[in-house]
Amino acid sequence: MAETSAHTDWAAWQERWDRQQEWYMPDREERFRVMLDMVEAFVGPRPRVLDLACGTGSITDRLLKRFPEATSTGVDLDPALLAIARGYFDGDERVTFVTADLKDPDWAGRLPYDSYDAVLTATALHWLHAEPLTALYRRIGVLVRDGGVFMNADHMIDTDTPRINAAERAHRHAGMDRAKAAGAVDWADWWALAAKDPVLAEPTAERYRIYGEHADGDMPSVRWHADTLREAGFGEARAVWASPSDTLVLAVK
Ligand SMILES: C[S@@+](CC[C@H](N)C(=O)[O-])C[C@H]1O[C@@H](n2cnc3c(N)ncnc32)[C@H](O)[C@@H]1O
Repeated sequence: MAETSAHTDWAAWQERWDRQQEWYMPDREERFRVMLDMVEAFVGPRPRVLDLACGTGSITDRLLKRFPEATSTGVDLDPALLAIARGYFDGDERVTFVTADLKDPDWAGRLPYDSYDAVLTATALHWLHAEPLTALYRRIGVLVRDGGVFMNADHMIDTDTPRINAAERAHRHAGMDRAKAAGAVDWADWWALAAKDPVLAEPTAERYRIYGEHADGDMPSVRWHADTLREAGFGEARAVWASPSDTLVLAVK
């Protein structure tokens, strides 16, 4: 008999997603912790949050565990990751998921609210080229309420530091190769597992029709993100955390 969604272990898929993402970003959990520290600092422990390009809802999960009175809207385009998110948070009235393409000029019209205390995103906006990302930042500049925040944690590359970039990358990839040899599951392996799952097989085929392996985008510098956010209506913007490869940029309106 085919497995039904009632029998799918959504928590196990959530866990597998975290392990796969951590193979790329060993500091991922620390990045989320600092992001939520800054949510608390700017908008308090009961925020209305937009989890932008939410995937399986990783930010939302940490948000609600730390701030049980928070609410979250997750928005994404990937049907397989949204299936995991919807299954995992099923019955939790604090959470709503919306399917939308962030490159669609009308994406925000699908949201249940027209204003948020905090818009949060991680490891996602490098799937967009600079031009659609600029348009997205303008829209976020409207969605965040006055005094609210936007935060983006992602790879942000400074092209003025090629030797630093090359050494950091080589070191990171050597660690990833060792972890892979010890059995770590990478992006391609993870999707191959999803394709074999009776419930996720069809949405996985659909996500490959939408994106292919991975959408193509840009990884502009921290300065570009901060400047573009200020041009989009935020009063201040700068990095609040960084690892050798990743940065968390915060913009306050
Ligand atoms: C690597 S995942 C990160 C997910 C989650 N934020 C996390 O940290 O685990 C990147 C996400 O960005 C989403 N994404 C990329 N481009 C998008 C677009 N144009 N519209 C909506 N979502 C998009 C993908 O579907 C995917 O869920």
